[in-house]
Amino acid sequence: MHSLTMETITMPETTPMPARSFAVLGLFDTPNALMKAIPQVRVANLGTVEAYTPYPIHGMDEALGLRRSPLGGMVLVMGILGALTAFGFQYWISAIDYPIVTGGKPPSSWEAFIPIMFEVMVLFATFTAGLGMLFLLNKLPFFGHPVLSSKAITGITRDRYGLAIEAESEAFDSTAAAQALKEAGAVEVEILPAPDRSPFLTSDFILRTLGGIFAACVVSGIVMFLTIKWFPLLAPMKYMQDQPRLDAQRASAFFKDGHGMQMPVAGTVARGYLPTATGTQEAAVALVNPLPRTREVFAVGRKAYANRCEVCHGAIGNGVGSLTAAYGGKPANLQAQQFRDYPDGKIYWAIVNGKNAMPSQAADLTETQRWSVVHYVRALQRAQNAKDEDLKVATP
Ligand code: HEC
Repeated sequence: MHSLTMETITMPETTPMPARSFAVLGLFDTPNALMKAIPQVRVANLGTVEAYTPYPIHGMDEALGLRRSPLGGMVLVMGILGALTAFGFQYWISAIDYPIVTGGKPPSSWEAFIPIMFEVMVLFATFTAGLGMLFLLNKLPFFGHPVLSSKAITGITRDRYGLAIEAESEAFDSTAAAQALKEAGAVEVEILPAPDRSPFLTSDFILRTLGGIFAACVVSGIVMFLTIKWFPLLAPMKYMQDQPRLDAQRASAFFKDGHGMQMPVAGTVARGYLPTATGTQEAAVALVNPLPRTREVFAVGRKAYANRCEVCHGAIGNGVGSLTAAYGGKPANLQAQQFRDYPDGKIYWAIVNGKNAMPSQAADLTETQRWSVVHYVRALQRAQNAKDEDLKVATP
């Protein structure tokens, strides 16, 4: 029986290290031959026994004595740790370091911490799964597994079944391993040299990497620059560029004065806005009340008048409002003949622009409210000067 420990200890320190091998790989023709060989090879106890097959074979894990990967457990522990970290951090911020009441919640309300706890849990768990698998369990860095560069790999990826005895220590005896595999029925045996594990972070490697990144930046920068420059000039983008159009601040042969920009045509009104006037005289003719005289319109006008006009002009518009005594200005008596003769446009104008001691009401009343108030003022005037026919009940 081969004793690994004995040899390791007795090997003199000064002996030059022999060319090490990673594993000895035996090839089998059928899965049954492989399965039969596994217990024999494991009994020899020469190193880690590992199988390489083109497809999963039932019972392989038990035959090799593989234990469940600890990765799941690691991920669970780190995930819980992540959630607790997030909880602790948020609790410390919200309840201890800087307690602020938001939305009426107590500063320590844990419900609000859950989304971040979830995120950090996932973060910890995924990093554990990825890095743990690559570095802890699969033992990176390793540029290519040695079995991948074996002669047998072409067979293993098709219809052969490989069994490897992998070196566990310096004292690995490749001859004994080859012998054991042959005895177990391997048709071919191959010794795989140990992979090169010399450090790759050499100054040469770092310089090349930095140089490569620099070159990639320069090249992509130039390509980007040229793309942005040329792309608009390619068809069909170029057709849009070349079409006849008006450029602001540019000359244009289209108009007589040769200017690209023109003043709006006289009387132009912006969409959604009613025509406005430049002064009260123009307002008198240009501004016409667009609203119908309906119950709804009067209701809007009555409310707006009560809110915005009544304090000064009084409930019936006679210029005696609740504020009048305390107020220096003399609000107009809207019942006066002068204002009964006023066109709608002039009342509207007074609402929008104000007059002397009357401030503009435009900011507080919408277009609709202003014209509704105009209708309501008309109603107030008519109420105080009713004619006989106003008293007739309208026949439906
Ligand atoms: C802060 C008090 C005050 C409020 C509020 C007020 N007004 Fe006046 N209003 C006046 C005064 C004062 C005058 C007289 C201005 C002048 O002729 O010097 C006046 C004048 C007017 C005139 C006559 C304008 C003209 O051309 O002579 C109209 C119409 C009028 N108000 C309508 C309204 C309407 C409608 C409202 C509500 C949307 C309103 N006012 C809100 C104080 C007010």
